[in-house]
Amino acid sequence: MPAQPNMRNTGSLRVAVVGAGIIGLSAALELRARGADVAVYESGTELGAGATVRAAGMLGAAFEWAIEADQRALAALARHAGMLWPDFAARIERAGGGSLEFSKEGAIVVARSDAETEWLETLAAACQARELPVRRLSAAELKREEPALTGVVKAALVLPEDRHVDAQIALQRLGAALSRAGVGFRFGRRVERIVGGQVFQMPDGERFDRVVLATGMGSLPVFVGPRGAPLEHGLVEAVPVKGQMLALAPVNGGPRHVIHTRDIYIVPKSRWVLVGATSERGRADTSVDPAKIAALKSRAAEMVGVLGSAPEVTAWAGIRPGTPDDAPMIGQTAIPGVFAALGHYRNGVLLAPATAELVADQVIDGKVSPLAAAFDPLRFDKQGEAPHSPSQKD
Ligand code: GLY
Repeated sequence: MPAQPNMRNTGSLRVAVVGAGIIGLSAALELRARGADVAVYESGTELGAGATVRAAGMLGAAFEWAIEADQRALAALARHAGMLWPDFAARIERAGGGSLEFSKEGAIVVARSDAETEWLETLAAACQARELPVRRLSAAELKREEPALTGVVKAALVLPEDRHVDAQIALQRLGAALSRAGVGFRFGRRVERIVGGQVFQMPDGERFDRVVLATGMGSLPVFVGPRGAPLEHGLVEAVPVKGQMLALAPVNGGPRHVIHTRDIYIVPKSRWVLVGATSERGRADTSVDPAKIAALKSRAAEMVGVLGSAPEVTAWAGIRPGTPDDAPMIGQTAIPGVFAALGHYRNGVLLAPATAELVADQVIDGKVSPLAAAFDPLRFDKQGEAPHSPSQKD
């Protein structure tokens, strides 16, 4: 791992965060809390115009990663993030002036066939093996817990710590919390080139001791040395994974929990009920396909009948920033003093507080936590292959 440049002894460490999605803002919050002087650069004119505002806001550590046999390290990071979320939400609510709609209800997973029951059992066993809370539900318990479910259910379980939050509201509150904490926002400033050395000079001339790249699907800046020679950060480009989502108007008798089937999820918020999502690897366009949206709606209505008559509010497509191995890149790049907080794929909202912690550990203290070791941003070769899996096998 490259060494870090010395911190200047002229006061607080100055850190530029590039990207105002939930990862960049969460990192900025933690860096500021640990005493850094922080500015957030955003090429757009508003917060989180990338994946965050299109996210369903699920904090689904167990559902997303327990079953993936080669993602043990990611499951551990996701679990840690899930445990940080209640305090993280409370902290943002206090500092950001209001509720994030952080729901403590947990998620219900249902199986509709024998094959899906087998998958559900595998999920339950994987959760138990990784000490992720899980509880099987009898038919009577399911009816009591989630009376909105009307479709055929062969088996069900609840993941009590897979909570959710309104991602769009969380982003706005985070932005407010940062402004109050004295973090500067540089909107409309595309960071295409950074001149590095002992300090990093941004295109607007401002200078920083450290840079955190949280650009999501946005392009990475080019780095050059003081005499214009290229500096290689060693990062691979994000892999786009398109997700289309439908928002239905809230209806009487709608669900209280996040509901997962094997192929869709239903997420109730106060302003709408989200139904997601497609997973289209390699696609970076944000067009919405009416046939795919109609399929999401009919699958949702098969499980929760009342959603069949719920008016459609809107539909959208978001682009998840993937990586070759689906795990994020968190840590120092090949340029000392430049850090990555990238490639959070399906789980940027969930992983935000844990990423912020790991980034701040490295940026402020030069410490790589054991949880971060598997997410070394330099683990891929130039073709994007990971020569060593980021995670131990089960
Ligand atoms: N986290 C759910 C999704 O990306 O669709």
